[in-house]
Amino acid sequence: MPTVSMTVNGKKVSGEVEGRILLVQFLRENLRLTGTHVGCDTSQCGACVVHVNGDSMKSCTLLAVQAEGAEVTTIEGLADGDTLHPMQEAFRDNHGLQCGFCTPGMVMSAVDLVKKNPKASEHEIREWLEGNICRCTGYHNIVKSIQQAQQTM
Ligand code: FES
Ligand code: FES
Repeated sequence: MPTVSMTVNGKKVSGEVEGRILLVQFLRENLRLTGTHVGCDTSQCGACVVHVNGDSMKSCTLLAVQAEGAEVTTIEGLADGDTLHPMQEAFRDNHGLQCGFCTPGMVMSAVDLVKKNPKASEHEIREWLEGNICRCTGYHNIVKSIQQAQQTM
């Protein structure tokens, strides 16, 4: 089996994986980083979004071997110890989640949006979230959370 090596949340990791194994499976099953969720594994729901070399990506759309040498950040790597990332704080403050299933992917997508477009309008925020599906919140409080984080990030 091929060996894959990458940096995940600042730590160098490696593992033997079959070529067909998705990055999300490697994160969840090999590394036990189960904060990254799988809602569909067909690139539709966005529950699996992580950062790969600084960009948000659906980790079910990449094979683990395609992430060879990459810098990956998952939801577990976002907080600074016990201090939540400002985007996580904002989701908490604004009730930007209900069941929480979509939340890791939402937060990772939202962080990337605010880094790339700190002054994104409400319309741009909603457009950016097109690839992240939430079955619970109606998106309203998610948008409010991101607008708060635009002020605090
Ligand atoms: S699990 Fe990757 S988009 Fe749904
Ligand atoms: S909070 Fe339940 S799916 Fe989004």
